Amino acid sequence: MTKTPDAEADAAREEWDDRYRSEDQLWSGKANGSLEAEASDLTVGTALDAGCGEGADAIWLAEQGWTVTAVDISGVAIDRGRAEATRRGLAITLIAGEFPTAVEGSTFDLVSLHYPAFPIGDLDAVSRGLRQAVAPGGVLLVVGHAPPQDLEAATFDPADYVQPWDIEPLLGQGWTVEVSETRARPGDHHHGSHHVEDVILRARRAQPSAS
Ligand SMILES: C[S@@+](CC[C@H](N)C(=O)[O-])C[C@H]1O[C@@H](n2cnc3c(N)ncnc32)[C@H](O)[C@@H]1O
Repeated sequence: MTKTPDAEADAAREEWDDRYRSEDQLWSGKANGSLEAEASDLTVGTALDAGCGEGADAIWLAEQGWTVTAVDISGVAIDRGRAEATRRGLAITLIAGEFPTAVEGSTFDLVSLHYPAFPIGDLDAVSRGLRQAVAPGGVLLVVGHAPPQDLEAATFDPADYVQPWDIEPLLGQGWTVEVSETRARPGDHHHGSHHVEDVILRARRAQPSAS
């Protein structure tokens, strides 16, 4: 039987909650190097971290002065992010919910999505949600794992999930692609991950023309 969207979201939530519960800390606790590289030269404003996991990127952005909203489908991950933000005295809006519905109608100067886990079947909704979440003049940053050399040895097939190279052709008019490249993944890898290269899409939404 085909699952309804609600049932799919429930299944994804349970799966991710179980995955987070299986370890005291799933990710490194450090911000992603490609976020640091791509966001350091941006004018600080409001930021959204979509699929924020345990919140390391959101925390780094808040420490740089951004006003941060972060959303993740896993309440377990969000609770960890909240605890760490509180410990550091940072006010971050952390939402346990599904992207894009949980932030529908809000816009941000930076929308950051690192290592997305949205099924490729949700591409249209995710891509629309990302575009709509970026304020005029703002930046969309999507970073994914480069496809592995040896797909059989990989833990997942990137083609099963929405990736930067799926989003880029859907941007359309009113967007300027500032970065579209594959680079060595900076810094420490999460738990010895085999993913050593990032695919980076950084695009800026046009300001409405003054007339
Ligand atoms: C591979 S992890 C990346 C986490 C974090 N961005 C990082 O770089 O460490 C993908 C995250 O997406 C979250 N996620 C999956 N589907 C989601 C959805 N529909 N809405 C919001 N978050 C989702 C998962 O719970 C998980 O935390």
